[in-house]
Amino acid sequence: MMPNKKVFIRELKNYIGQQVRLDGWLYNSRSSGRVLFLMLRDGTGLCQCVAEAANLSKELFVQLEHLGQESSLSVGGTIRAEPRSPGGLELAVSDAIIHCPAADYPITPKEHGIDFLLKNRHLHLRSLRPWCIGRIRHTVIDAIRRFFNDNGFILVDTPIFTTIAGEGEQTLFEVDYFGQPMHLAQTGQLYLEAAAMSFGKVYCFGPTFRAEKSKTRRHLTEFWMVEPEVAYIDLPGLLELAEDFVFSIIQGVLRNNRAELETLGADIAALEAIQKPFVRLTYSEAAEILTSNRTKEFMAAQLEGFLAQKKAYEEELNQLLLLEAKGGLKKWQQDKTAGRIIELRGELAELQVKIENNPKHAQLAADFQWGKDLGGSDETIISLMHNRPVFVTHYPKKAKAFYMKTDRSREEVVENFDLLAPAGFGEIIGGSIREDNYERLLARIRQEGYNLDSYQWYLDLRKYGSVPHGGFGLGVERTVAWLTGEKHIRQCIAFPRLMDKVYL
Ligand code: 4AD
Repeated sequence: MMPNKKVFIRELKNYIGQQVRLDGWLYNSRSSGRVLFLMLRDGTGLCQCVAEAANLSKELFVQLEHLGQESSLSVGGTIRAEPRSPGGLELAVSDAIIHCPAADYPITPKEHGIDFLLKNRHLHLRSLRPWCIGRIRHTVIDAIRRFFNDNGFILVDTPIFTTIAGEGEQTLFEVDYFGQPMHLAQTGQLYLEAAAMSFGKVYCFGPTFRAEKSKTRRHLTEFWMVEPEVAYIDLPGLLELAEDFVFSIIQGVLRNNRAELETLGADIAALEAIQKPFVRLTYSEAAEILTSNRTKEFMAAQLEGFLAQKKAYEEELNQLLLLEAKGGLKKWQQDKTAGRIIELRGELAELQVKIENNPKHAQLAADFQWGKDLGGSDETIISLMHNRPVFVTHYPKKAKAFYMKTDRSREEVVENFDLLAPAGFGEIIGGSIREDNYERLLARIRQEGYNLDSYQWYLDLRKYGSVPHGGFGLGVERTVAWLTGEKHIRQCIAFPRLMDKVYL
């Protein structure tokens, strides 16, 4: 008899000793003759369900024994403590209903290449890593909304079809809007500035589009960005806001997703160690660090570390290849060995890129000239040298967007900041105080060669009650990648859009 009481795996600890039903999918299973261990997932977690031949009809036991990975089924039975099970609990099966048996599920527990997984993203979402990352992403988004809602910000939904560029015309996706050219939003900021003059403190949160011809691990063509905008704020105030905001996201994830972070192998201790205040550097100080001996030595030490790691991986790989060639391994040992070999080859390929890049990046840093924007590798170096997030402020005007406010005490720089996540991750936030003087803004728009008619409404904001104001944008996928230790941000959104490939 199937118990009526349906529960979720996440809440099982409240049902020890009780008869319950779980509805889910078969994650994997193993048999020891008279006993079957069915690992069931139900969207909230994994539960080991133990089916003994003695307690079930022969027919049902045989069906369960032959059930393929990802078959959907309901399982009923009693919850009991079992320290060796995930979560310390298991279900002693008294009945089961099979809804849709699955055979030959393409994603097996062993390792697969990234291209294969992205082509099968619709199925891969069910695997443990994407599931953990998806849950952490949910927490990050929840923490973002909570922070702004609890701090007096009003949500303003800015348009996706836009008439003006915020972040440079080179990365605009053009769309045909009933015969009129329009763009997909690169940022909600300019609209948000208008809204800030109505509500004081506002934020927008939505998908953002950039036709960025960049195939790096940090770029998507469609990503999610949250942008707050505040009237009457200065740069130190803005940094403090960003600091409190990012800190609240870290705390939210540590509170809600410790198990997922552990499964992913994320550096929990490093996240726990992050305290306020974050590091504050000016662009000029960052430039000095890049060209210093300290960076030269740091890069050399890094290269040595990579080479030592390479040697260790190669030795392990050779041993496994020998083991494979010798034969005589059990099926599970073969799978385990094959999986680790794929993993090691992946790690070695990545290391090789790092080894080749290290001298180039070291050279780029050594040659860094004041006036250039910080490149990805420069950011990585600065962020590797710190174990808490780093604000870099006051970039050269010529390297930055037209709307940023010129520092009145030093006209060649703007009142802006980037926030670099620590341990080599790099930029997760860009923000600034906005130019609030009509004439100066007009001159910058002209300099960029933008169509003045389109920017008239934006200029109006500097005509009618202009005030010092500013804000920033945080990229959700980059933040999730940093917190989870995921190398590529394509894993941090359910269906990624990349420059060279849209899989599904
Ligand atoms: O520095 P960005 O370009 O700033 C703006 O868009 C401003 N209008 C924000 C503002 O002041 N309201 O982008 C902000 C953040 C980056 O730090 C990064 O996290 C993310 O957006 N981002 C991307 N994420 C993934 N793929 C891309 N191609 C990204 N481009 C920017």
